[in-house]
Amino acid sequence: MKKLLDKVKLIFDQEQFVHEPKELYEPIEYTLRLGGKRIRPLLLLAANQMFGGEEDQVRYAAIGIETFHNFTLLHDDLMDKSPLRRGKPTVYCKWDENTAILSGDTMYALAWRYFLRLPHPNLQTILNCFNETCIKVCEGQQFDMNYEHKDEVTIAEYLMMIRLKTAVLLAGALKIGALYANAEASNVENLYQFGIHLGLAFQLQDDLLDCYGDMAVFGKKTGQDIRDNKKTYLILKALEIATPSQQEELHRHFASSPENCEAKVGRVLDIYNQIGIRQHVQDAIQKEFELAKTYLDNVQVDPIRKKPLLELMNSLFERKK
Ligand code: IPE
Ligand code: IPE
Ligand code: MG
Ligand code: MG
Ligand code: MG
Repeated sequence: MKKLLDKVKLIFDQEQFVHEPKELYEPIEYTLRLGGKRIRPLLLLAANQMFGGEEDQVRYAAIGIETFHNFTLLHDDLMDKSPLRRGKPTVYCKWDENTAILSGDTMYALAWRYFLRLPHPNLQTILNCFNETCIKVCEGQQFDMNYEHKDEVTIAEYLMMIRLKTAVLLAGALKIGALYANAEASNVENLYQFGIHLGLAFQLQDDLLDCYGDMAVFGKKTGQDIRDNKKTYLILKALEIATPSQQEELHRHFASSPENCEAKVGRVLDIYNQIGIRQHVQDAIQKEFELAKTYLDNVQVDPIRKKPLLELMNSLFERKK
C-alpha cells in the first residue's frame, strides 16, 4: 500500500495545474496540491492492479477521479459554510464564493478531460460509470441539504443519502479501476459493493470525526455538522435513544441557527456524551466494514492480490483524519 501511495503522489507531482488566467487555476492548484488522503485514486489503482492492469493506462483516470472529488469539496464547503479543509482555509474563504463556484466547475470539466485523454476498449462503459456517479453525488448533496430543514429524517433515509453523496464515488473508483483491467462482471460487481459499504463506513466515520476529531489532525472545523443542523447518524441515533427531555432539547437545537453557535454545539455534545453516542456510531461503522469485507472475500482472484485493498481498508478503519 505504501508503494501505491508513492505512485499516486508521483502521478500528482508530475502534473501541472496552473495555467492562465491564474485567478481560475491557482485555487485548483492550491486544492489539489494540499493533497488529502487521495483515497479515490488509491482505490482506483489498487483495483486495477488487483486484476493485472497497467499503471500507465489508469494514471489519468486516477487524477480525474481525484479532481472530481476536489471539485465537490469546493462546492461542498461553500454549501456547508466550512472555513477549514486539510488544515487550511477553504477556497471560498481564502478567495471568494465566485472563485469556489468557477474553479470548482472547471475542475469538473478537467476531470472529464483526464478521463478522455487515453483510449481504451471499455472507455464507453467507464465514462458511463463516471457520469452516473457524478449525478448520484449531486443527488446525495441535495438530500443532505434538504435534510437540514427536515425534522423527521430516518436512519434509512440517512443511509440512502450518504450512499449517494459519498459511497458511490468510492465504489465507482474501484469499478473504474477494475474495468480498465478488463475484470469479469461478477468481480466488478463484488468490488463495487465492497466500495459501497466501505464508503458508508467512511461517511459514518466522517460524521463521528466532525464531532470528536482533533481539529489539528482532522483538518476541518469540528462541530460544523451541529452548526449546520446536518442530519447525521449521531443526531438520528441519539434521538432514538435519548430520554424525552433530551429529545426535546435536541429537537430544539436542531431547529435553531443562532448567531453564536458555540453554546448549542456544547450542549449537543454534552447530550451525545451522556448517551454514549460514540459507541453506537462505532458499532455502525464496524458493521459496514464487516459487510465490505464479505464482498471483497467474494472477489475471485488470488488472495495475495487483495492485500493492498485490505491494508487500505484497515488504515481507513483507524483513521483520525
Ligand atoms: C471528504 O473526503 C468528503 C467526504 C466524503 C467525507 P475525504 O475525507 O476523502 O477528504 P480528503 O480528500 O482526504 O481531504
Ligand atoms: C461531503 O460530505 C460529501 C461530498 C463532498 C460530496 P461532508 O459535507 O460531510 O464532507 P466534509 O465533512 O465537508 O468533508
Ligand atoms: Mg462539508
Ligand atoms: Mg456537505
Ligand atoms: Mg463531514
